Amino acid sequence: MENCLVRNFYRATLSMASHKSEMTSSNNDIISPEFVATSITIFAVVFSSYVTYYVIKRIWRIVYYLYDLIFLPYELIRPLGSVGYTNPESYEMTQRQIVNLVRRRRKQGLEIPPVYPNGWFRIMDSRFLKKGEVKQVTAMGENLIAFRGKSGNVSVMDAYCTHMGANLGVGGRVSGDCIQCPFHGWKFNMEGKCVEVPYSDKLPKNGDMKTWHSREMNGNIYVWYHCDGTDPEWEMPSVPQVDKQQYAYAGRIEHHINTHIQDIPENGYDEPHLNYLHQPLVLAGVNLATHFDSKFNLAGNIMETDYSTMLQTGEKHVAKISLLHVFEVFSRWRMVYVNFQIYQIGPGVVHLHVTTPVGKIVIIQNITPVEPMDQILTHALFKPWYIPNIIAKAVLWGLTVQVDRDLMVWNNRRILAKPLFLKEEKVQKTFRRWYKQFYTDNSPRLGDTKKEGDLDW
Ligand code: FES
Ligand SMILES: [Fe+2]
Repeated sequence: MENCLVRNFYRATLSMASHKSEMTSSNNDIISPEFVATSITIFAVVFSSYVTYYVIKRIWRIVYYLYDLIFLPYELIRPLGSVGYTNPESYEMTQRQIVNLVRRRRKQGLEIPPVYPNGWFRIMDSRFLKKGEVKQVTAMGENLIAFRGKSGNVSVMDAYCTHMGANLGVGGRVSGDCIQCPFHGWKFNMEGKCVEVPYSDKLPKNGDMKTWHSREMNGNIYVWYHCDGTDPEWEMPSVPQVDKQQYAYAGRIEHHINTHIQDIPENGYDEPHLNYLHQPLVLAGVNLATHFDSKFNLAGNIMETDYSTMLQTGEKHVAKISLLHVFEVFSRWRMVYVNFQIYQIGPGVVHLHVTTPVGKIVIIQNITPVEPMDQILTHALFKPWYIPNIIAKAVLWGLTVQVDRDLMVWNNRRILAKPLFLKEEKVQKTFRRWYKQFYTDNSPRLGDTKKEGDLDW
């Protein structure tokens, strides 16, 4: 029996071996040497094409990156919530939840100054409004439109049509130097006068749109806001390096901030914070709890300010300060000196004339209150041709980090009407007194414009 089993197994093995041998011999007939050579060639071509494509793509990226670094302007927008908030809870939340929770819990108080000072405010960069374009914009809690007519002039007016309230910024068309409503086609000229009703020979009484005083200068479009609706009390100065294009545009940063407008310019008059919050090197980052301990904090910023010229500009609405920014390496060697001449023009515009070791630059800063505790802060940098773009970018990047640090405080602080100012901080008191000129009896307060609970973002 055992022998029989062994014999059968032996036979079966022989049979399988012979079958396998037949199969191999038949496969050898199909996989010819030519077939193998062709396959290898195709594989080599495909593989080398892929490698070439990958290498070219990488090189192109590096070339574009260098081109961007050397030639293109720096453009950065920090939307509300992207920086300046930390999670107050021990569980995970989305950034949106964090922002809304912080905003709701924040005790900002009703004792803060009026929310919209009187003055000129930027509504957009000039280059964002081309001929024949209309854009909608919100500023001082108002919905406005700006359009650029065929002549190249700009008009700013209320967004809502006097006929039946359509928003001219949504579907409105620029026709010549007029704007045409998308609803029934009424046409308004740059002064807001109704000049055409397509289906009537008569023009309506009281049909004119409310227009805003506007100016276009220093690369921006500005509107005049006054709570009493009065005409402009002063004019915005032109910066020739920008307006006459003596300097080139090198980029801009835009921060959306959850604070009161006065908080932002007052920051420049708070010398102790300049040498504390802004002292660590920008490489140390934005986290205020750790930036002093960062291993990148190899050098520090020292700011020496001169406020003596503050009220001596000869113009009531202009304040001027000087600031010397010094980089000190290893708390010992003073390396780079940058001098700032800073002009605060009205409540929402600052011109910074900066002398660096490689030449002079100009920075135009604008703050626009979109809503009571919602500000847009922009910095645009202009430089002469001989300053490399990469230096301008480094300045804007450093500025971004420093503004981000301020944002950590601005977005979370309670604004006190009577802070504990020490005698070393008396310049802030002077600044607050100076800034009061931009508020008048009817300037709207937070309670007038927004309910405390109505702060969801
Ligand atoms: S709502 Fe503007 S034309 Fe009717
Ligand atoms: Fe600051």
